[in-house]
Amino acid sequence: MKIFLDSADINEIKELCKTNLIDGITTNPSLIAKSGGNILDVIKEICGLVSGPVSAEVTAIDHKTMMMEAEKLLNLAENVTIKVPLTSDGLLTCKELSKNNVSVNVTLCFSASQAILAAKAGATFVSPFVGRLDDIGQNGLDLIYDIVEIYNNYNYKTQVLVASIRGVNHVIESAKIGADVVTIPTKTFKEMFNHPLTDKGLNAFLSDWQD
Ligand code: G3P
Repeated sequence: MKIFLDSADINEIKELCKTNLIDGITTNPSLIAKSGGNILDVIKEICGLVSGPVSAEVTAIDHKTMMMEAEKLLNLAENVTIKVPLTSDGLLTCKELSKNNVSVNVTLCFSASQAILAAKAGATFVSPFVGRLDDIGQNGLDLIYDIVEIYNNYNYKTQVLVASIRGVNHVIESAKIGADVVTIPTKTFKEMFNHPLTDKGLNAFLSDWQD
């Protein structure tokens, strides 16, 4: 399973890429706004920090303007993935870009039917949002089960990229289900390293070594 960071914070990305465990980055308009930078500058800088795909989201809601925004984003670097919302216009844009071998991430997916349409539109990635479904009292991981099963039934090439992850458990369960990618906040990535018995064991080894 690939691990992407869900962040537009340059310092965070720089720090965590040093682990050599990060396969790509996803951003969204909220994360770009939080970074305080201009989208084109921020995406260009992130693309220089990682060799894997960097998802950059269009902000237009109509197909024509989405295509114009995508073109600008694609000119920034070779590892840009265009992120489009799961709307009719978003999927039209996905289909057109995919036909030209552009990597596309279809985001804001909240149902299996939406995921079927994203695959049919040729998406490279589909991003189901597990945390936001949990937030409204549904089980976000059930959606991951459904999409993985459906995509396997038809050998769809679209990769299931689990987004809106709220903690380590979402990562573990996504891996058990067989999701292709998780995109996680930096806090969750750091938590993946931790176990109290690792700390306790290490302390014991170090103290025994010194005796
Ligand atoms: O990047 C999309 C997604 O991961 C957003 O997560 O926490 O805002 O629901 P969240």
